[in-house]
Amino acid sequence: MRIKKKTTISDKDNLILLCDTKSKLSGFNLSKKELEYIKKEGKDEKEIVVINHYGKYIIVVLPKKEKDKNQHAENCRLIGDTLAGKLKDEKSAIIVDVKGNQIEAMQIAEGIALSNYTFTKHKTGGKANKLETIYLCKDSSKKNIKELQNIIDSVYLTRDLINEPFSHLTAKDLSESVRKVGKEYGFKTTVFNKKKIESLKMGGLLAVNKGSIDEPTFTIMEWNPKNAKNKNPIVLIGKGIVYDTGGLSLKPTANSMDLMKIDMGGAGTIIGAMQAITSNNLPYHVIGLVPATDNRPSGNAYAPGDVITMHDGTTVEVLNTDAEGRLILADALSFAKKYKPELVIDLATLTGAAVAAIGHYGFVSMHDGAIKDHERLKEIGDIVHERLAEFPFWSDYDELIKSDIADIKNLGGPYGGAITAGKFLAHFADFPFIHIDLSGVYSKSKYGYRGKGATGMGVRLLYQFIKDRV
Ligand code: BES
Ligand code: MN
Ligand code: ZN
Repeated sequence: MRIKKKTTISDKDNLILLCDTKSKLSGFNLSKKELEYIKKEGKDEKEIVVINHYGKYIIVVLPKKEKDKNQHAENCRLIGDTLAGKLKDEKSAIIVDVKGNQIEAMQIAEGIALSNYTFTKHKTGGKANKLETIYLCKDSSKKNIKELQNIIDSVYLTRDLINEPFSHLTAKDLSESVRKVGKEYGFKTTVFNKKKIESLKMGGLLAVNKGSIDEPTFTIMEWNPKNAKNKNPIVLIGKGIVYDTGGLSLKPTANSMDLMKIDMGGAGTIIGAMQAITSNNLPYHVIGLVPATDNRPSGNAYAPGDVITMHDGTTVEVLNTDAEGRLILADALSFAKKYKPELVIDLATLTGAAVAAIGHYGFVSMHDGAIKDHERLKEIGDIVHERLAEFPFWSDYDELIKSDIADIKNLGGPYGGAITAGKFLAHFADFPFIHIDLSGVYSKSKYGYRGKGATGMGVRLLYQFIKDRV
């Protein structure tokens, strides 16, 4: 979807008129009757009034006043979602800011663009929506429009990656996608192959990969602009399980594998975030790490009861091969130590427990030694409406991952599964660390502009968090 600036309005343009009840609507060829109708609807607190005007739409938008700024922003994005539905058979529309509120105009454009996404590449003759372009009118800032376009493109990339099935996205394919993005947007990409991963003794990633017929990859993205404001980098780590069968601890319940192409959701999200950061030239040194493999059973697969040695030398008793995400992330976390990062954030579709707790509406998060950054991240989450539900990270939970025969085990107790998974990761972190369990990465039903399928949630969160960093 394109978002562009247009300074003139032609007769044929579909118009979205952003108004309040005081706005004067002369100059849009509306008849007296239509103007009266709009007035009446406005009085009835209708937020969207559609007038079909001789083959084009004139849509009057009257966002209701919300006291809460963040709720108001979200409301405007959701209005955008409704507008995208109404305009789906049109090629373009122009948002005319009659009331003089550029922030709202941009939020509506954002909602339309996020809503207009389709994933049709595997449908024969599949077509995207007809709506191609949203124009913003003369008062809008070119810089803001470009930034929004870059963010939308990045969210689309993340959704494309996560929606792509395993049949078309192996670990190698994932690293190739990163290379392509890096080349286009200017971050540096390094891909480790199996040999290199072996030489680094990444025992977690190698164990999960043992049952696979495809090789693992470990991909590094680096954006280090000359004007970087931070001395030590921010490291983003994304779980890249391109498919999760559970391995020998095969996923037990009916249909629980159907969606497991999304298990590289953390990777997909940080790849999109890296694209957003680099395409908008954010002055921060940021590194992205993606350990990737599928997790499947075979004659050679790692088995419950195994003890493995991780990249940092920690020994881990594997009690469930379906708790694989934490094993590959642990190696990435200890690898991250060499960067002396000021902050590490990992994103992972790590547990069903996180989904069970909060559904698909946001993310579950925890932190270790990053209280200020985590508070800020939560605030940003409220602003972009990709919200974090903080779980406790009390030391009480530490005993749940103790093992009888190794340093730790990859399984916690029967309860608090999202927390013990996080605790496992924290064992490998010696820097300020935030863990995000991506419950909202995918939704079977539509929530507004997030649509159905991969939501792309997390990209706007990370982008805004890093942009606003001081
Ligand atoms: N990828 C899954 C978690 C998951 C399940 C994410 C459903 C999204 C939707 C992860 O690898 C997993 O299997 N976790 C297990 C851990 C358990 C064996 C300790 C889980 O949550 O059941
Ligand atoms: Mn699993
Ligand atoms: Zn998994």
